[in-house]
Amino acid sequence: MKPQFPSTQFLSIILSTLTIIPFTAAVCECGYVLTTTNQYFTHTFTNNFTGLPDTTTGVNLTRSLPDWEIQEYKFAADKKTGILGRQNAMSSVWIKDGLLHLLQKGYGANDTGPVQVAELQSINQNFFHGSFRARYRVVQVKGATGGSVAGFFLYYDDQNETDIEVLTKDGDRAIHYTNHPSYEVATDTLVPGAAFTHQLARPWNEFHEHRFDWSEGLSAFYVNNVNVLNITKNVPTHEGKLILNVWANNGSWSGPPSSNDVYMDVEYILMYYNTTDSAAGNDEVFNRACEFAGGNEQRGTVCYVTDQAGNSSVDSVMSLDAPVEDAAVRVGGVQMTTLLGVVAAVVVVIGIL
Ligand SMILES: *[C@@H]1O[C@H](CO)[C@@H](O)[C@H](O)[C@H]1NC(C)=O
Ligand SMILES: *[C@@H]1O[C@H](CO)[C@@H](O)[C@H](O)[C@H]1NC(C)=O
Ligand SMILES: *[C@@H]1O[C@H](CO)[C@@H](O)[C@H](O)[C@H]1NC(C)=O
Ligand SMILES: *[C@@H]1O[C@H](CO)[C@@H](O)[C@H](O)[C@H]1NC(C)=O
Ligand SMILES: *[C@@H]1O[C@H](CO)[C@@H](O)[C@H](O)[C@H]1NC(C)=O
Ligand SMILES: *[C@@H]1O[C@H](CO)[C@@H](O)[C@H](O)[C@H]1NC(C)=O
Ligand SMILES: *[C@@H]1O[C@H](CO)[C@@H](O)[C@H](O)[C@H]1NC(C)=O
Ligand SMILES: *[C@@H]1O[C@H](CO)[C@@H](O)[C@H](O)[C@H]1NC(C)=O
Repeated sequence: MKPQFPSTQFLSIILSTLTIIPFTAAVCECGYVLTTTNQYFTHTFTNNFTGLPDTTTGVNLTRSLPDWEIQEYKFAADKKTGILGRQNAMSSVWIKDGLLHLLQKGYGANDTGPVQVAELQSINQNFFHGSFRARYRVVQVKGATGGSVAGFFLYYDDQNETDIEVLTKDGDRAIHYTNHPSYEVATDTLVPGAAFTHQLARPWNEFHEHRFDWSEGLSAFYVNNVNVLNITKNVPTHEGKLILNVWANNGSWSGPPSSNDVYMDVEYILMYYNTTDSAAGNDEVFNRACEFAGGNEQRGTVCYVTDQAGNSSVDSVMSLDAPVEDAAVRVGGVQMTTLLGVVAAVVVVIGIL
């Protein structure tokens, strides 16, 4: 059996249970329509670090991040090219004050070992199309030389990868959007149309919601729910996993590692997505929950998410009806956080029963 995000399965089970209680309306069992792009996805997932306990006080981090695997793998150094080794470390990932922190530990002028870096990979490896969002900032401690790469990306292999990356050496507003392959080793040239640099309106050391939407033939990039760039070249065609990391290896992309600490501070990760199974209509858990709720013709089994350009997804409106032309006069729409709050409250009540 392919791994799934347990929280989603849990939600599906809870939601299908709810439908046998007559006074409870169906809620999103059959998926989500993003009204601004008119794309439909079967699943959603939120990891909200606000409110999670500080792991610096001895709370088990692995248990706080059940949907993610904290990496401990190492890349070897290459003396010939000057590439430094890098070591992903458990101690470079922690939760404090409602933020998930990933760290490239400052690499001093006299350091000779691997650069200590951080990486989180989703346990789910079968994302197949989706809208992937994370609200974060990147902070390089002042007075540093060198830099670091902070990445939020989808990965299967070097031929199926979509990246959002901050390179701290490139100025405080530059952000890189890439589909791989973006470089032709044989001819030593860039692949036209596969890599772009976008200038943010505000520096990346302030919180932004960074987002990429992956659908067939299109990678669309967003900042605070504004679509700032599209890439149609080398759009992944294979299922993959989601990764967040901070790293440097003295190579040409990262440059020399930052001499001071570099942090990626994440407030939440939120996504709407299909899996390989659900995209093909073969996700039995999903199909059963949807059917049990009355199928996708039943009001409320499909939810409509209207993201607000310029705002984070916390301000998105979730509705049980397709929106009418003028969103301002729409009835029945609720702030997403309100709806999630109601679902959470019902879950708590069910738990008590
Ligand atoms: C995270 O939780 C906080 C506090 O409950 C809430 O204000 C915020 O809207 C939540 N964010 C998301 C993305 O759910
Ligand atoms: C933390 O929890 C994980 C998963 O439950 C477990 O495998 C690990 O041993 C725990 N680590 C510590 C230090 O308790
Ligand atoms: C980093 O790479 C350069 C070559 O690009 C090399 O001269 C330098 O020694 C390397 N730095 C370290 C710390 O190995
Ligand atoms: C590096 O080593 C030299 C010689 O021992 C010392 O003078 C210098 O202060 C060290 N630099 C750092 C950043 O530790
Ligand atoms: C991206 O593609 C979508 C779908 O074709 C289009 O509606 C949108 O305007 C494009 N965005 C940009 C920034 O070109
Ligand atoms: C993605 O992976 C598939 C299967 O390995 C491969 O055929 C394809 O070329 C890769 N890249 C893209 C952009 O489709
Ligand atoms: C997601 O999967 C469903 C099938 O369950 C399909 O109808 C839909 O078009 C897929 N969404 C995207 C954006 O590929
Ligand atoms: C956008 O965000 C601002 C600041 O959080 C908030 O005051 C405003 O109501 C939001 N607008 C919408 C349309 O959600």
